[in-house]
Amino acid sequence: MTKKEQALLKEPEVKKAEDVEKKAGTVEVFIMGKSYKVPAGLTIMKALEYAGYRYIRGCGCRAGFCGACSTIFRIEDEQKLGFDLACQKVVEDKMYLVQLPFVPATKAEYNIEEIKPTESTILEIYPEIARCVSCNTCSKSCPQDIEVMKYIQRAVRGEIAKCAEISFDCIQCGLCAMRCPADIKHYHVSQLARRLRGKYLDTKSKNLVKRLKEIENRRYDAEIEKMMKMDKKEITEFYKKRKIEAEEGGV
Ligand code: SF4
Ligand code: SF4
Ligand code: FES
Repeated sequence: MTKKEQALLKEPEVKKAEDVEKKAGTVEVFIMGKSYKVPAGLTIMKALEYAGYRYIRGCGCRAGFCGACSTIFRIEDEQKLGFDLACQKVVEDKMYLVQLPFVPATKAEYNIEEIKPTESTILEIYPEIARCVSCNTCSKSCPQDIEVMKYIQRAVRGEIAKCAEISFDCIQCGLCAMRCPADIKHYHVSQLARRLRGKYLDTKSKNLVKRLKEIENRRYDAEIEKMMKMDKKEITEFYKKRKIEAEEGGV
């Protein structure tokens, strides 16, 4: 690793990258067609930064939750394209990388107070789901291993709760929509299902109602104010020692 490359990384990351490099050697990746040697074991995101690129957009949580870092790659001599999250997928030798722009998926306009959870609600709002040809490309693209085609089919059948349940771990990365031959915007469909379920169908979400009341009554104001004054180290420790929600019985 050159000094210039080291300067592009924060100290702990430099150390980590050096350790990985010593143990696993390097791999060759191509970023926008240009060759770079990077330590094996880095994620695509870290490899790009190691190579001197800086994420300004297309990066959020760095932990596989926000869905901002959808990336396409191809391995030399392999015909198939790969789709994944840059912050999670580890680089491979001869990997060609391109980051995707956001998915231009138009969200339908609806007022959750005015719609009702009937069998045809989702179909009326997103009629394109009826065009699904059951190719299963969406499920194969999903970095969360969600059975995307199945939740779309549940939506077509008007099974709102099931659609919401199957799609629960969706991070809205858009990789499914990017590849769907029927132009379905899966994550908007499933978000609607979860909203309908949360508002009208789920009788178990009592904790949510309770929590909203507590927030309205300003129960957490003092605690939030205290946290706002903490520095990064203090808040990290505070987070690690937090009480886990399960003690309240979950949802
Ligand atoms: S990619 Fe589109 S058409 Fe294919 S199964 Fe998924 S929703 Fe249906
Ligand atoms: S369902 Fe689609 S948008 Fe949601 S995580 Fe999977 S690929 Fe991403
Ligand atoms: S940066 Fe949030 S999922 Fe990758």
